[in-house]
Amino acid sequence: ARRIGVLTGGGDCPGLNGVIRAVTKTAQNDYGATVIGIEDGFEGLVEGRMRELTHQEVSGILGHGGTILGSSNKGDPWHYPVEVSEGRIEVQDLSYRALRNVERWGLDALVAIGGDGTMHIASRMMDAGVNMVGVPKTIDNDVPGTDVTFGFDTAVTVVCEAIDRLATTASSHHRVMVVEVMGRYAGWIALMGGVAGGADVILLPEIPFSWEPVFGKVHERQSLHKRFTIVCVAEGARLPDGDEVVAEMDKKRTDPKRLGGIGAMVARAIEEGTGHETRATVLGHLQRGGAPTVADRVLATGFGAAAAHCAARGEFGVMVASRNGIILPVPIAEAVAGQRRVPPDHHLVAAARSVGTCFGDR
Ligand code: F6P
Repeated sequence: ARRIGVLTGGGDCPGLNGVIRAVTKTAQNDYGATVIGIEDGFEGLVEGRMRELTHQEVSGILGHGGTILGSSNKGDPWHYPVEVSEGRIEVQDLSYRALRNVERWGLDALVAIGGDGTMHIASRMMDAGVNMVGVPKTIDNDVPGTDVTFGFDTAVTVVCEAIDRLATTASSHHRVMVVEVMGRYAGWIALMGGVAGGADVILLPEIPFSWEPVFGKVHERQSLHKRFTIVCVAEGARLPDGDEVVAEMDKKRTDPKRLGGIGAMVARAIEEGTGHETRATVLGHLQRGGAPTVADRVLATGFGAAAAHCAARGEFGVMVASRNGIILPVPIAEAVAGQRRVPPDHHLVAAARSVGTCFGDR
């Protein structure tokens, strides 16, 4: 392909700039191709906001957080929110505009960097005749088809550092510290970050918990060696059934992304249930901002270069993936087959149990 488009869709993620840089430099250096950067994901494709990416523009951005192209969650061309009158939004099918802009800009291929939402749109674009290459992105690490996504290592590094900091103040005050982490419906960030930070309790969406084991862990630590406890809770973890107050709050929390606050609920339950002073911290978007770690810079560069090779050589309908440490293209269809969750018998869960971590289930 001589003209390759590139866009970043969905929530941002450390490493996006590394992918943009690698796609652009590989396409230019190895194939003499032109790379067109599309602004704000599929929104920019619908609205025709794009520009040629120069070598200069992508130079020196590998270590920068965010995305130089901008991103958007609301750019699905088939379900595009349009303001029809003041304050009234209507969802319309504007896919014809996106397809027209692909033609107008002469894009022979389009590299879409994003999570499950972006991959769904990418496979629809493919069906509509656009030559698509996907690059999986999310701090949640839940895209099927790939062992790992860039951004995840940075997020768990932030979680680990946060737990280290919370532990010293928890220890000084003999408190319970609850830290709520991201991950949407998957527990990868809580599991990996919690293990790395040495959390005493880890609560995941994939392992239903009850209060007794959690309270028991707090009592055990207070009475024995350490007089503080660190609880790492995934935003998507479900509160135990049967507790009327929390069950009521939990019902409203159907989308963990929008109505979070499980950290506060868990903290309140622990303080009431154990009598020990408890505080809650929500790490939120700190996990998504800032510079990518070494591992994420390396993965982003590998993914970006591989995506440019696919785009330039005409290998379409694929997503680049990392499997057993090797980067290779897999069918986009594999990436849109649900979400990758933590198996409750995952080896890291077993290792954490062996070092005494409580998952609240026994
Ligand atoms: O998918 C990435 C993620 O950061 C999730 O972990 C989180 O639930 C969600 O996005 C937050 O989305 P927003 O930035 O739209 O609040």
